[in-house]
Amino acid sequence: MQTQTIDFLYNFTGTVGVFMILVAYWMLQIDKIKPHGFAYSFVNLIGSILMLISLMRFWNLPSVIIEIFWIAISVYGLRRYYLTRRKAAGTKQALLINKGTSMKFFVDTADIDEIKELASTGLLDGVTTNPSLIMKSGRDFIEVVTEICKIVPGDVSAEVIATDYKGMLEEANKLKKIAKNIVIKLPLTYDGIKACKSLTDDGVKTNVTLCFSANQALLAAKAGATYVSPFIGRLDDIGQDGLDLISDICEIYDNYPDLKTQVLVASIRNPIHLLQSAKIGAHVATIPPKIIKQLFKHPLTDKGLDAFLADWEKTKQTIL
Ligand code: G3P
Repeated sequence: MQTQTIDFLYNFTGTVGVFMILVAYWMLQIDKIKPHGFAYSFVNLIGSILMLISLMRFWNLPSVIIEIFWIAISVYGLRRYYLTRRKAAGTKQALLINKGTSMKFFVDTADIDEIKELASTGLLDGVTTNPSLIMKSGRDFIEVVTEICKIVPGDVSAEVIATDYKGMLEEANKLKKIAKNIVIKLPLTYDGIKACKSLTDDGVKTNVTLCFSANQALLAAKAGATYVSPFIGRLDDIGQDGLDLISDICEIYDNYPDLKTQVLVASIRNPIHLLQSAKIGAHVATIPPKIIKQLFKHPLTDKGLDAFLADWEKTKQTIL
């Protein structure tokens, strides 16, 4: 290549390099552009490489060292940008795992006939029971829970009665032998959280119940509970918005992808409770049978169906 052409190329790369470094410097004055962000690092890197190529002509060691230093800074910035992006993608993925892909429906009852009927829809993901529901069923606790576990393959919560740590673990030990899908339900007390941690460490599924504050839910999640059950209806009863608690818990859990506990909305009293919980993104709702049946109902559906059937009658046709 002719000397003139080589000179031109050196001058050209040098000029473009200086220009890019000036642009990079100007970018640093803009608030939104971070010194270790992609835009600054990329422009600075290209500028510094061009400058380095141009400086090779004179082989001026101090200038070459300065350019290599700038290249290193830019590479550091780009690497940092890449790692931040990778972490954000991981967090999003973890949140998706935590949230699941659908809202689970549990039925809140110990009434075998109701459970059988609802299970036949194929929409039931699990069952929750509590001592009051067992009392209402009028049946033996172990017997009824064993039966429920055979009807529904999903998680079935059975609650301990002991209030001390040791007693809870003894009862949990008996209850977990009923079936593989048993979830040990524990009250949100000091001993209950302690028992939850021990059971979690032993690989037993737990449902921490009687949760009325976001801090309590945080404790349950720290103890590794599979589910936490905030009672929204009972909060409404004392003039506090139960759904606010669901928002708070979901927000806190979403902040920390390592918290894998699922929010199981309990004490649901009406379809609006369910609707709002689903809008917030709660993972599970345990719903009384009567309210599950209400979900199917709309007067316009009934009216529309009556009209379709009346018109069909007039056609005198049959499908089968
Ligand atoms: O499973 C417990 C919970 O759902 C209780 O509901 O109506 O008695 O407040 P409720």
